[in-house]
Amino acid sequence: MSIVEQALGAPIVRVDGREKVTGSARYAAEYPIEDVAYAWPVGATIARGRVTAVEATAALADPAVLAVLDAAGAPRLEPGVDEDLMVLQSADVAYHGQIVAAVVATSLEAARSGAAAVRIAYEQEQHDVVLRADDARAYVPQQVNDTTPGLVERGDVDRALADAPVRFAATYTTPAEHASPMEPHATIAVWADSRLTLYNADQGPYLTAARIAALFGLAPEAVEIVAEHVGGGFGSKAAPHPPAILAALAAQVVGRPVKVALTRPQMFSLVTYRTPTIQRVELGAERDGRLTAIVHDAVQQSSTLAEYTEQTVSSSRLMYAAPNVRTTARLVRLDVPTPGWFRAPGHTPGMFALESAIDELAVELGVDPVELRIRNEPLVDPDSGEAFSSRGLVPCLREGATRFGWESRDPTPAVRREGRWLVGTGVAASTHPDYTAPSTATARAEADGTFVVRVGAVDIGTGARTALSQVAADALAVPFERVRLEIGRASLGPAPFAGGSMGTASWGWAVDKACRTLAQELDERGGVVPDEGLEVSVDTTADVLARTARSRHAFGALFAQVRVDVDTGEVRVDRLLGVFAAGRILNPRTARSQLLGAMVMGQSMALLEAAELDRRFGDFANHDLASYHVAAHADVRGLEATFLPEHDEQLNPAGGKGVGELGIVGAAAAIANAFHHATGVRVRDLPIRIERVRPGLRRIRERA
Ligand code: MOS
Repeated sequence: MSIVEQALGAPIVRVDGREKVTGSARYAAEYPIEDVAYAWPVGATIARGRVTAVEATAALADPAVLAVLDAAGAPRLEPGVDEDLMVLQSADVAYHGQIVAAVVATSLEAARSGAAAVRIAYEQEQHDVVLRADDARAYVPQQVNDTTPGLVERGDVDRALADAPVRFAATYTTPAEHASPMEPHATIAVWADSRLTLYNADQGPYLTAARIAALFGLAPEAVEIVAEHVGGGFGSKAAPHPPAILAALAAQVVGRPVKVALTRPQMFSLVTYRTPTIQRVELGAERDGRLTAIVHDAVQQSSTLAEYTEQTVSSSRLMYAAPNVRTTARLVRLDVPTPGWFRAPGHTPGMFALESAIDELAVELGVDPVELRIRNEPLVDPDSGEAFSSRGLVPCLREGATRFGWESRDPTPAVRREGRWLVGTGVAASTHPDYTAPSTATARAEADGTFVVRVGAVDIGTGARTALSQVAADALAVPFERVRLEIGRASLGPAPFAGGSMGTASWGWAVDKACRTLAQELDERGGVVPDEGLEVSVDTTADVLARTARSRHAFGALFAQVRVDVDTGEVRVDRLLGVFAAGRILNPRTARSQLLGAMVMGQSMALLEAAELDRRFGDFANHDLASYHVAAHADVRGLEATFLPEHDEQLNPAGGKGVGELGIVGAAAAIANAFHHATGVRVRDLPIRIERVRPGLRRIRERA
């Protein structure tokens, strides 16, 4: 009898690491498809109105150009599926950059120059692209993206605020932000006998196939999505976007495969972005810091095409034990592209506001910000009244404080100088829901002693392929090397997407169940695998639904040290420490990498990222990574992520909560709070830019 080492919990290196670093891992745009043509989209140069004419003669003069698509000639799509995906179905223009035509050619260059030669005439209308807190058209939607109501009220908030010995209120803003995955979005569309295959940069092959099938009036099985390797997504690849639809339409028109591979600048128009937010937070508290009321109101935007409302205020209902809480999500419909999911949608901007406000209250009360949070720790989920399956916030705060050396911190702002640098530290909490969803999986024993596991998962760089192989190996009780995982195709069966940090927990449940069922069947056969192999398929819908009512969330605490040049306002993050409680960590190497990446994105949000609106054109002005800055290696130092393992049997068989999004939530607040501690200047509008903090720094220099 051999003893098999447990794979789960081991820091196993990525099973696809070699393929990735040697360049043999294939991404959507790289599939060698014979006879492929190229489509290049033409984006609207107005933000509202309609196309009156598409002049394509010059483009069509090039023999390499196969077709010019416009709304008059493009194949029809099924209405009522998704307004954002109705590519070339109407002459109306709803936002700047919307696809109004496309050129299909035998080469990428010809498609691109053809697109430049297409002339579009418009009937332009006055556009409105500016989000304002006092916009009279703002309304409270029935439901926000996480399916909770737009307005939630518990207790008597107004009375609690009126009676509160201490009151605090402030407005915080966050800008529109663009997801910038390493792999730009790309699709190759191949039609064969009314069946459509899309090689697509995709976070959710099964769900994408269902959506696209509905749009093209096909049976779900008639659409295959191939996404074997995906180079990051952060939500931007979690649902199909217009370029993927364009590829499928163009392939229909020219009768051969068509590739659409976006350039980085095109991604800034054709891929979703995070909505800007204007948030008001109001707190009522006792003098000892116990919260009596929390009000969180967020104004956000959506397009005229679709209602998308982020869950920006949702975390504020469960973080702290205030008996009176009101959260409101408001929406203004503007002449803009529909915003969408971007790493920890809602929670990321929302916790910037809440965790900044908590810090401001701590300063006002003279209570340590770690201690203030601990004093407001709830016994049960204050929102649902349910018990937490596990809640690690306080342990994370305590462990972080110890590791960071918080105890010796002098709370007085703007008193630590190292030459020109002002130095400060800050803390903020993180949380993200655990969204385990039903999945299917198939496990197969081969006669040669190896195992194949098939699941409709996708690895967008998270390490899911590795972690799921570990789940399979342990459930089968075989060495890790004997398991081969097949993922990244819609035809592998119903499965949730790699989003909401739910992927590995959800697919892992199905993989665990399939492998255990197979192992049992093999046992019953005395361990003998028939020549033709042995296969079982499972579905976890009933298992997931049968879980007891519990509030399931991951928590964390982020500690930052920043230094600010008192003359130039330059901000450097010296140190960013995250301590996280996310159930069992299935693979500490890949999980840590997830958290570090998300923390860097949080730093990037705090200091760099902002899509700048050009009101005249109704478009974002910065369309590349030279003008839309994301944190690079040189920006990052002193980054550290660590886990507090939780034993939580209320989650799923592997016992893990999602870790993908936990690292970004709260990171920007920790940095803004540290910035305040360093300088005495409170920044409530992200990013923390030199021009915004100069006046405050001038006052410090004059004082010194
Ligand atoms: Mo995530 S923004 O749900 O991929």
